[in-house]
Amino acid sequence: MTSHVDTSRHSGKVCFVTGGGSGIGRQTSIRLSLEGAAIIVSDIDLAAAQETVELIESKGGQALAAQVDVRDRKAIQAAVKSGLSAYGSIHFLVNNAGLVTKHSLKDLDEDAWDLVLDVNLKGQWLVAQEVSQAIASSGGGAIVNLSTVEAMVVVTSGSTAQPHYNASKGGVPMLTKALAVELASENIRVNCVAPGPIATDFFDLKGVMSAEAQAFMNQRLLVQRIGQPDDIARAISWLLSDEASWIDGIQLPVDGGWLTR
Ligand SMILES: NC(=O)c1ccc[n+]([C@@H]2O[C@H](COP(=O)([O-])OP(=O)(O)OC[C@H]3O[C@@H](n4cnc5c(N)ncnc54)[C@H](O)[C@@H]3O)[C@@H](O)[C@H]2O)c1
Repeated sequence: MTSHVDTSRHSGKVCFVTGGGSGIGRQTSIRLSLEGAAIIVSDIDLAAAQETVELIESKGGQALAAQVDVRDRKAIQAAVKSGLSAYGSIHFLVNNAGLVTKHSLKDLDEDAWDLVLDVNLKGQWLVAQEVSQAIASSGGGAIVNLSTVEAMVVVTSGSTAQPHYNASKGGVPMLTKALAVELASENIRVNCVAPGPIATDFFDLKGVMSAEAQAFMNQRLLVQRIGQPDDIARAISWLLSDEASWIDGIQLPVDGGWLTR
């Protein structure tokens, strides 16, 4: 569901989105397109990215799909090149691709650790390093990285311990600050959004919504509902826009009050 659309907010802008084939990345691509931007929808899953492009085109928007594993510099460079040849410039980046694997602490192996750190943290750096050069040559713009409340507090433990996820996302606000400092001279602002629980494939709704889990959620959430992808897309769109032109280097929780108590 997409609400409160300002169809000219991002007119003439071009946005590169990672993990745009699902959940928050898909909804952000759709929202930014409805708000006037052309979207480079990248994902490791090309068919999923293409589906997002079809959804955008069916609403009259402009988008192209690119197969990008955020760990693969050459694939990122190729997608930037296609975006530039289709649209001539790139102004925004949404560094959204991310994943988690679930294990007890003793069963967490090095492959799972490396996968989660490489996609969630190294991937954000690699994509930002490449895409920021295109944004700089386009006259500047803005980047939003996806963090999580789990960068600040531990939510799951025991059989679903997530030290690798917590560590990877804990790095995002500091990466965000470092990029904000480095890219200020290029007229590029860099911020991150920290979502609470959002109803996507990532967040296993069926598994989580046991009576016990529901009670846990209700006790944490001040706003008594699970977040929707558009709750995050709206915050991302605002941080990218000129309305946030004096906001740089921050982490914005968008979490229904999860972190408040
Ligand atoms: N859903 C939540 O509750 C929640 C909460 C906090 C933070 N987040 C963060 O939001 C972001 C998006 O999550 P979501 O809920 O939309 O997840 P999702 O699983 O619905 O979508 C993630 C997308 O990333 C893609 N992807 C995975 N590995 C990739 C890689 N190596 N390269 C490129 N693309 C890859 C997947 O194909 C998928 O399309 C993630 O960074 C996640 O950590 C989600």
